[in-house]
Amino acid sequence: MVEALNIKVHKTENSRIHQLDQDNIQFARLYSDHMFQAEFKGGEWRNPEILPYKHMEFSPASQALHYGVSVFEGMKAYKNQQGDPVLFRPLDNFHRLNRSSKRLCIPEVPEEIFMEGMSRLLQLDSDWIPDRSGTSLYVRPFTYCSEEFIGIRISDEFKFMIITTPVGKYYSQPVKVKIETEFVRAAEGGTGYAKAAGNYAGALYPTKLAMDEGYQQLIWTDAKEHKYIEEAGTMNLMFVIDGKVITPELTDTLLAGITRDSILTLSRDMGYPTEERKITVDEVVSALKEGRMQDAFGVGTAATVAPISVIGHEGTDYTLPDVSQRNISASLAKRLQDIKEGRVEDKFGWIYRV
Ligand SMILES: Cc1ncc(COP(=O)(O)O)c(C=O)c1O
Repeated sequence: MVEALNIKVHKTENSRIHQLDQDNIQFARLYSDHMFQAEFKGGEWRNPEILPYKHMEFSPASQALHYGVSVFEGMKAYKNQQGDPVLFRPLDNFHRLNRSSKRLCIPEVPEEIFMEGMSRLLQLDSDWIPDRSGTSLYVRPFTYCSEEFIGIRISDEFKFMIITTPVGKYYSQPVKVKIETEFVRAAEGGTGYAKAAGNYAGALYPTKLAMDEGYQQLIWTDAKEHKYIEEAGTMNLMFVIDGKVITPELTDTLLAGITRDSILTLSRDMGYPTEERKITVDEVVSALKEGRMQDAFGVGTAATVAPISVIGHEGTDYTLPDVSQRNISASLAKRLQDIKEGRVEDKFGWIYRV
């Protein structure tokens, strides 16, 4: 029960909902009226509350700012056919947040704080969940170290917060990606499997260089040899080679995407030959050269299923078949969207009613 947690609720007196134009949603530009927060101090989580979304005051010596002691999650809330708010697989995000937290010595958030805080926030701001197909309310839970201390050490002061923002499509066109063979995102034993803030900061510069060359995203390769395909900036990757759906197997250098897992489940369920295994850059490049790659796409919460139009490798751009010919990714994307928006049976139990 939501009430069990005794969340204090301070409602806004100045709703900004009139600023939301459902026909013209800019990705993550506008934040909904309220936010959730809880504090960790003295070894326990306390003071769960919902308050009007606003700028915060914090010490300039906060550990999160200086040492990146911060982890986050991302998921989407939708309206079902009856107009009720629903979330897609939120418990998977909850477990992943805590796996990330453990790696950074951030205290794990109890399930009731995560789930009840989020449910209550979404009930309060349900008008902010857009109802046009393909739009949603992006939900961003995060935990950061709020302690005022210059020096890196395991802290006892944290905040867990949830903010939300209406979103439409992340990519409006198929994406052009480059296989990165100089910089790395994650090395074995590192924090690649965690949704740690610093992972994303470290990706900015290599991504900027690729963007200067006309690409939108990178395909990361392994840190040791740049021989194996890993993932893209904020998406896992899937290839269709010789009719098989293939994705890199999970390791500690990859984020275990919830969309990845959902698409793999649907792919198997729909009878496509599906493989999770190591994929070499050579295999991808040979398949591209020999015309054996029918499809390549990124999968993630923000981008959902994003077709890849071009893969660049060492100065050569390989163009993939036109999106109109991509039956496998199109049918997987449609089935996923239909489940999320309640048009087909949710036989895997992925939809959580808020
Ligand atoms: C690095 C990275 N890989 C993959 C994903 C896709 O994960 P999910 O499908 O859970 O959104 C994300 C986005 O969360 C990401 O940041």
